[in-house]
Amino acid sequence: MTYSDYTTALVTGASTGMGEATVIRLREQGLEVHAVARDEKRLAALAERTGAIPHAIDLTDIDAVERELGGLQIDVLVNNAGVSGPGNILDAPRGMVDAMVDVNVRAVLHLCRLFLPGMVERDLGHVVNISSIAGLYNFFGHTAYHATKAAVHQISRQLRNDTLGKRIRVTEVCPGRVETEIFGRNMGGSPEAMKEAWETYYEGFESLTVADIVAAIDFALAAPRHVNMGLMEIMPTFQVPGGLTFDRREDV
Ligand SMILES: NC(=O)c1ccc[n+]([C@@H]2O[C@H](COP(=O)([O-])OP(=O)(O)OC[C@H]3O[C@@H](n4cnc5c(N)ncnc54)[C@H](OP(=O)(O)O)[C@@H]3O)[C@@H](O)[C@H]2O)c1
Repeated sequence: MTYSDYTTALVTGASTGMGEATVIRLREQGLEVHAVARDEKRLAALAERTGAIPHAIDLTDIDAVERELGGLQIDVLVNNAGVSGPGNILDAPRGMVDAMVDVNVRAVLHLCRLFLPGMVERDLGHVVNISSIAGLYNFFGHTAYHATKAAVHQISRQLRNDTLGKRIRVTEVCPGRVETEIFGRNMGGSPEAMKEAWETYYEGFESLTVADIVAAIDFALAAPRHVNMGLMEIMPTFQVPGGLTFDRREDV
């Protein structure tokens, strides 16, 4: 079981960033690829360019997910779609917390529920979950985001138990900072926000690129059938998760 054994794939968050780059790579490898995101126009352009099959779906709508994707036979499931938010739990609007839970965790579980039984039946499959270093380390990110990514980490490990004895592989790709739209979206998603996010989070930093993430996914999928690449933590060389913070109170 290596790349050549897989014939179909489904990638969420396919309209941009890591998801889009993954779709392009899987199409190059000759797989039939189902590309899922909300942005119909971007998906249509990707489909035109690569021959991927577009599915414009909001992953928070599980009825729509079941209706549109439920009957598919998928060998490689790439749970990549994700949202984060600025600030922290102290000032998070209700919708922001719900969006993180619904896209980052709930949709992942439901997609596994839909496609894992078929993989088990065919004795063939690979789940690739994109988590984040936020799921493994504490730093000043959004608590809801950290929590959802920790859940993706645990889901990735637990799926190995659920499918023990079958030729099903599960890979968690756990990135540090990658150059994508994610920070610009956090800042509102306008062209000005995208520019500001670029200047704040990427300019002058040697971040990862989507090509680095695709190379990792590629490596995991291409590994010989007896090899399960489990956790792949990938950070820029100049990014570390260190730093214990001890705040001083001036009034004691
Ligand atoms: N960039 C980083 O530094 C970084 C670091 C660690 C982990 N990650 C994780 O890596 C993954 C990919 O992120 P990225 O940086 O490539 O993000 P991105 O550029 O912001 O792309 C996010 C993707 O998710 C899709 N999406 C968001 N909400 C959705 C919804 N409700 N329904 C369907 N699709 C939805 C978006 O498509 P539509 O808007 O068209 O729906 C888009 O295709 C995420 O899970 C993220 O948490 C990113």
